[in-house]
Amino acid sequence: MTELQVRKMRFAFADYDVPFLWNEENPAFSSMANAVSFLAIGFEKMIVNMIREAMPLITDPAVAEEADAFVRQEGQHSTAHRQHANGLIRRYPGLQETLNEVIAEFDRLTVQTPVEYRLAYTADLEATFTPVFKLMLDNDSTLFRPGDDRVASLFIWHFVEEVEHRSSALIIFDSVVGSDVYRMRMAPSIFRHVMKVIRLACAGFNKHVPLEERQVDALSMFASYRRMQKLRRRLPFLHAQDNGPMPRAFDHLPLREQLVALVGIVRSQLPKHNPDHEKLPALADVWFQRYDAGYDVSHWYTAGTVTP
Ligand SMILES: [Fe+2]
Ligand SMILES: [Fe+2]
Repeated sequence: MTELQVRKMRFAFADYDVPFLWNEENPAFSSMANAVSFLAIGFEKMIVNMIREAMPLITDPAVAEEADAFVRQEGQHSTAHRQHANGLIRRYPGLQETLNEVIAEFDRLTVQTPVEYRLAYTADLEATFTPVFKLMLDNDSTLFRPGDDRVASLFIWHFVEEVEHRSSALIIFDSVVGSDVYRMRMAPSIFRHVMKVIRLACAGFNKHVPLEERQVDALSMFASYRRMQKLRRRLPFLHAQDNGPMPRAFDHLPLREQLVALVGIVRSQLPKHNPDHEKLPALADVWFQRYDAGYDVSHWYTAGTVTP
């Protein structure tokens, strides 16, 4: 029996303005997280269609139950990210075009690729989440705490549930396709697509959100882009368009922790990877305990502590 819990969460994004620069101390991370919100909407829409298609192929009832709980968690994430994105679109209407482009990229996969490919996509990408989100959650005091509590709470909830269902996509892939070789062979094209979608979102941010309000060249999270921009600035005849400063979201984090995350990402793609054995962020445990105790996890930093 699956242990996944489906939790409905709302974050009051409609109540007042949703800032693009939701963590003013870290514009690069603010922008990166906004891009994750856009990606999540398209990705999770693809997952919902994919599970619908894969369900008849799942013969083991335990896996079918896991798939059902998994897709319902993802559905909740998608709904919350849509509310976050709608808040941003209200303030910067051009971002509707960006969100449409991101969703269209995943809709294209749904229409044009076999279900095996999308199962591999989901398993590969979700396998990277635990090491990446551990890095972020272990450093929540600088990445999330100083920010808008609605946005911070949305990401913390989403990331701890990704940690919770870290094995689901792989279990489903193994039950329907069951080939590490296929998963590894598809990995380069899968991660190329992920990067393409994030780039699309970041280019949209540069286009539709004024620099004074984003405070960062949203594309600067790509090392290749940073190199090109620096080159263009040195060579005036290349007519570099200046999209703003190029700080990096994780520069202030301990190098050792960044390396551990990087090694974790590589390990997550190897054959026989078992996410059950991953080291988990301590914050995830605290989150589940607080949720069970009735703490208002939609206001993670501002709700106060529960008195027994
Ligand atoms: Fe999710
Ligand atoms: Fe997920």
